[in-house]
Amino acid sequence: MGNPYLEGNFAPVRQEHTVTELAVTGTLPPQLDGRYVRNGPNPMSELDPDTYHWFMGDGMVHGVRLRDGRAEWYRNRWVRTSSATTGGEVRHRAGIELFGANTNVIGHGGRTLALIEGGMANYELDEELETVGPCDFDGTLPGGYTAHPWRDPDTGELHAITHFFGRGDIVQYSVIGTDGRARRIVDIPIKGVPMMHDFALTSKYVVLFDLPVTFDPKQAAAMTMPRPLRYPTQLVLSALIGRVRVPDPITAMIGKRMHPNDRLPARWNPKHPARIGLMPREGTAEDLRWFDVEPCYVFHPLNAYDENETVVLDVVRHPRMFVTDRNGPNEGPATLDRWTIDLNAGKVRESRMDDHSQEFPRIDERLLGRRNRYGYTMEAVGGGSPASSVLKHDLVRGTTVATSLGRDRQASEFVFVPNADDAAEDDGVLMGYAYDLPSGRSDLVLLDAGTMETVAAVHLPDRVPNGFHGNWIPTE
Ligand SMILES: [Fe+2]
Repeated sequence: MGNPYLEGNFAPVRQEHTVTELAVTGTLPPQLDGRYVRNGPNPMSELDPDTYHWFMGDGMVHGVRLRDGRAEWYRNRWVRTSSATTGGEVRHRAGIELFGANTNVIGHGGRTLALIEGGMANYELDEELETVGPCDFDGTLPGGYTAHPWRDPDTGELHAITHFFGRGDIVQYSVIGTDGRARRIVDIPIKGVPMMHDFALTSKYVVLFDLPVTFDPKQAAAMTMPRPLRYPTQLVLSALIGRVRVPDPITAMIGKRMHPNDRLPARWNPKHPARIGLMPREGTAEDLRWFDVEPCYVFHPLNAYDENETVVLDVVRHPRMFVTDRNGPNEGPATLDRWTIDLNAGKVRESRMDDHSQEFPRIDERLLGRRNRYGYTMEAVGGGSPASSVLKHDLVRGTTVATSLGRDRQASEFVFVPNADDAAEDDGVLMGYAYDLPSGRSDLVLLDAGTMETVAAVHLPDRVPNGFHGNWIPTE
């Protein structure tokens, strides 16, 4: 059987391009001055098609520079680890260098950062997407970060939850200032090493997702050891991981022996709880309150906010993950659900907002942690594969409009950029890559977020493989 992550637009591209003055159909809004950048896996080295999982390929960042109504350049560049040709190892306080950070790319404090979770090293890129080196926030946050920090719109600070199997039963909440240095780190004990891909932030609370997808010692042992040593290694890892801090030499050994482009060491774990944690933003782990939800998995919340005696949490909910198929996400439609946490009753009310299968939720990020009306997602078949439509949700009216980019086109994550600092909530553009099957190339497509009509398309010289997350980084 073929590996789905090596077929169609999941397949990696082999060439780095630099193209200037790109052809544009339509009109680029002249006030847009900056770069749209997006990260995704694009394995650099030889692959084993039997085991390759999409989440485990070297990052490649695809960027388009816009200014004065022109598309000045397109560049795609691998995120290069210091040890790109020698295999992964812990050489930096920044984290494990298994493969180039592949999950998100952001601008912060004048830097461009390629991000990944799980104790892996993050990387700084330059303006033209060349790798500068590992990033540990000037030494203030060693041992890895997350792909999903939330930027507080009031302060510009980055808030995050980080998980790493090497930290034992500890996940970390951190706040990174606008100077790019961590100013606050809170250790939070949580057992079992759940895969905490994202979190949420309201005006009052840090919101944690403790859901039943956990680190898999059996898979980690299979990835790192010759066959006769796998079972004893699994027993040792099972005994250590999620309970105590794993000694650095063992972490280093796992990092060194694990193959990039290998299976994902995560599994559905029915013994693990499914619960949401609320910790006051200035609190500690002792102030955490937990609220049970139906077992499921959430990679990405859309938004979260406080409302009277509740916390409203809108999420893209997968009914299951990595139960029967480690090649997921593909175990049922991922729907847009609302979890209303009743602080007085101690209960969560779960309701469905939209039952399209979808992923990659984004909002107008001036409203992160505040009540929002609109949300944008990408239609995703079976919870995973991209389809042709971008979805706009009106959460006040409870309506969803699906806008197809064309019958033979596939959408990706679309990010919202306001037309002005004080523009209304959907007065802006959505931008993201669209893959055109007949030509085998991609466009950067801009939609009017109000009407969902296409404003402009920047034509790229190659295709942009299906990837993860991106952002608009305005010129400072
Ligand atoms: Fe993500």
